[in-house]
Amino acid sequence: MVINDSSLPQLLLSALHALSEAAQNPQHPFRSFAVATVWEGQPFTRTVILRDFTAEPTQLFFFTHALSPKVSHIRHQPEMACLFYDSQSGCQLRLKGQAHVHQDDQLAQKYWSAVPPSRYGDYTHPTPPGHPILPPSPTPTLNFFSVIRTEIYEVDILLIRKQGHKRATFHKSAATFNGLWVQP
Ligand SMILES: Cc1cc2nc3c(=O)[nH]c(=O)nc-3n(C[C@H](O)[C@H](O)[C@H](O)COP(=O)(O)O)c2cc1C
Repeated sequence: MVINDSSLPQLLLSALHALSEAAQNPQHPFRSFAVATVWEGQPFTRTVILRDFTAEPTQLFFFTHALSPKVSHIRHQPEMACLFYDSQSGCQLRLKGQAHVHQDDQLAQKYWSAVPPSRYGDYTHPTPPGHPILPPSPTPTLNFFSVIRTEIYEVDILLIRKQGHKRATFHKSAATFNGLWVQP
């Protein structure tokens, strides 16, 4: 992964480009990432797969089961932090955003139509993730497929380099990211 750090705009552009590529390429180092949520004052993290990314507006998308605890967290506290790291290029991305849960709507239907049937079971089992597994019952199959869409408003980029680390932060205001170099 090549990150162009010749200027603040180039740095942001190449980080966003890397995220777009990761959403299309299962081998990309940013394909899986850590998502942090808060519930009753406690932090929670987990790994998820980046399913889509749009630079304009800056949004990332991942899929989950509607009964998973993270969905309750997001409904109560939509502020989300996301962490990506590529050990090859030494690039860490920390994003903050406002998350939205999409279930049984047009957006969820669009992504559901691309889910291979072999993965349907990830989103249709009635036992909430993290709960004891119950014996199979004749409960009709329901669809708990949810898409989490997160509108990114903060990007923090750290480049680990032998010749000196570099770090920049970007904050979105009025649809534009304003960035500055900061002490790593
Ligand atoms: C490589 C990897 C990819 C994962 N991808 C997802 C994902 O895209 N969506 C998801 O809900 N859980 C995914 N998981 C499982 C979550 O990390 C987590 O265990 C599960 O969603 C329950 O999280 P919660 O209890 O915080 O809701 C993945 C786990 C691993 C190790």
